[in-house]
Amino acid sequence: MLKNILVIGGAGYIGSHVVRALSAQGYTPVVLDNLSKGHREAVSHVPFEQGNLQDKPLLTKIFNRYHIDAVMHFAAFIDVGESVKKPEMYFQNNTTHVRYLLEAMAENKIAYFIFSSTAAIFGEPVKEKIDENHPKNPINPYGKSKWMTEKMLEDFDTAYGLKSTALRYFNACGADDSGDIGESHSPETHLIPLVLQAAAGKREYIRIFGTDYPTPDGTCIRDYVHVNDLARAHILALEKMEKDNVSERFNLGSGNGYSVAQIIHEAKKITGVDFMVKNAPRRAGDPAVLVADSSKAERLLGWKPQYDLTRMIQTAWNWEKNRKY
Ligand code: UFG
Repeated sequence: MLKNILVIGGAGYIGSHVVRALSAQGYTPVVLDNLSKGHREAVSHVPFEQGNLQDKPLLTKIFNRYHIDAVMHFAAFIDVGESVKKPEMYFQNNTTHVRYLLEAMAENKIAYFIFSSTAAIFGEPVKEKIDENHPKNPINPYGKSKWMTEKMLEDFDTAYGLKSTALRYFNACGADDSGDIGESHSPETHLIPLVLQAAAGKREYIRIFGTDYPTPDGTCIRDYVHVNDLARAHILALEKMEKDNVSERFNLGSGNGYSVAQIIHEAKKITGVDFMVKNAPRRAGDPAVLVADSSKAERLLGWKPQYDLTRMIQTAWNWEKNRKY
């Protein structure tokens, strides 16, 4: 059985929730993180190594010391706007560094890899719900850097038999029910944490980026999915990859779209705070609607999200009120 899992970027938001899920399922996660964005407190109970994944001697040492069976990668840059301004950073970190990692994995005969991909690889949707076969036309360097890595993975399978699963997250949100770990980006750009910071009085107001979209209330629609549901998908994907020994790609979302205005409405209800909302111009690079068709994940992995919108916002609110980092 695959047991020892190297989680690169495990001190970050999604990585730290996956580390929890792995431990709970009897795996032994080992975290490698350079702490440029991650938080050491998020992974205080598991083996931890600080360093960069382009450091091949370090990777080789970790692979051997912990008898690593599979690798997961969460150590990407994720800010779409920044990627437009500094594309070199994104291709370097999200593509080139993964290439170093794959080379080291192939040399050390580690045959299983799970890659955090994104809905941003699709670009502007051409149909209502985005399935795995939807055309890939990423409209920003962030999406391109992830799509290039997905393409690279195919060739490492062909050449070295390195099996991979790319999980394309839609809008990850929420926090662990324990309240110990949660989302903490700096700067924060995501809607739900920003809305909750407004509710907590840490921000004066929240801006709605665009009220003239072709949607029922004019604001953008997204598919929000709880971080623990995403974490569970990683375990299921790992089990599936080991059993079938094939590379796969899955779109992970709830299949439900909520508008920015609906999120704000729900957040006001849950927090009981009528915080200030301002209308603002559209943000560059935002598609009007992004909703996943995750029926492949349901069919092949038995994955179905369990957290509804209320619980997603509630767990994020619990975290926001009592943040540990
Ligand atoms: N929004 C606001 N006000 C804010 C922040 C966001 O109105 O202060 C809006 C955005 O314009 C967008 C929606 O809220 O319409 C959601 O925005 P987020 O920044 O929370 O999330 P995105 O949909 O832009 O991005 C997410 C991930 C990215 C990934 C992308 C793929 O965070 O990493 O989905 O679609 F690339």
